[in-house]
Amino acid sequence: MSVLEIRDLHVTVDTEEGTTPILNGVTLTLRTGETHAIMGPNGSGKSTLAYTIAGHPKYTVTGGSITLDGEDVLAMTVDERARAGLFLAMQYPVEIPGVTVTNFLRTAKTAIDGEAPSIRTWTKDVKQSMKGLRMDPKFASRNVNEGFSGGEKKRHEILQLELLKPRFAVLDETDSGLDVDALKIVSEGVNRAKEETGLGVLLITHYTRILKYITPDHVHVLVAGRVAEQGGPELAARLEDEGYDRFLEPVVDADA
Ligand SMILES: Nc1ncnc2c1ncn2[C@@H]1O[C@H](COP(=O)(O)OP(=O)(O)O)[C@@H](O)[C@H]1O
Ligand SMILES: [Mg+2]
Repeated sequence: MSVLEIRDLHVTVDTEEGTTPILNGVTLTLRTGETHAIMGPNGSGKSTLAYTIAGHPKYTVTGGSITLDGEDVLAMTVDERARAGLFLAMQYPVEIPGVTVTNFLRTAKTAIDGEAPSIRTWTKDVKQSMKGLRMDPKFASRNVNEGFSGGEKKRHEILQLELLKPRFAVLDETDSGLDVDALKIVSEGVNRAKEETGLGVLLITHYTRILKYITPDHVHVLVAGRVAEQGGPELAARLEDEGYDRFLEPVVDADA
């Protein structure tokens, strides 16, 4: 079993107006085999948490720690983090002109494993995963994310997840912009990866609907850069009914 441990994490981002604190002490322990949902209103710092785990240079850690089986993740470069078994499916996947899906996947797999995958099993694995995600085989020869629809980009993120087999995956709003059918297909892909490799999943979402297909063991509500409440799946059901209103500061009516 592996453990990803986030302790009292403080993160700032540099903007034109200066340095802004975004995460104000986030603590969370994720074990392989577990699925944790991070929920919260827009702007609460969910993507900031995802990017900080992945090592995006825009975000500065000003306090706290992230460790993977006791190893200091914050001291690792982005590619060291990937080789250590951390994976991020981005909320807004980027286009990579000039790089085909096939080349991208194979290069990533080779970099992470430290050796090229055997051609026969690799080609079979790619085909099978693409089929499972109902991706047209033609995608293999297209440039990464270029001209992909929102749903196709999200499927491509999950294709990477299935093939790269990380120990921990952070899925940042993988459900956003998906219709019900695509949501099911993407969720099934995540569940297949969970069954096959026993990875730990940090499922970031604003809405509860993906949690009908991917059952979380724990739910954390992130508000203003802090975990405001934690619970089991029943907490997600409550958020479905009530929304995030009770966590947000009441708006003061200037005329009152
Ligand atoms: N790169 C950035 N530059 C400027 N502001 C940022 C940046 N990233 C995040 N923020 C700000 O930090 C807050 C949290 O953003 P984010 O982590 O994207 O929230 P969420 O994913 O929960 O919607 C927002 O107010 C956002 O404007
Ligand atoms: Mg976000």
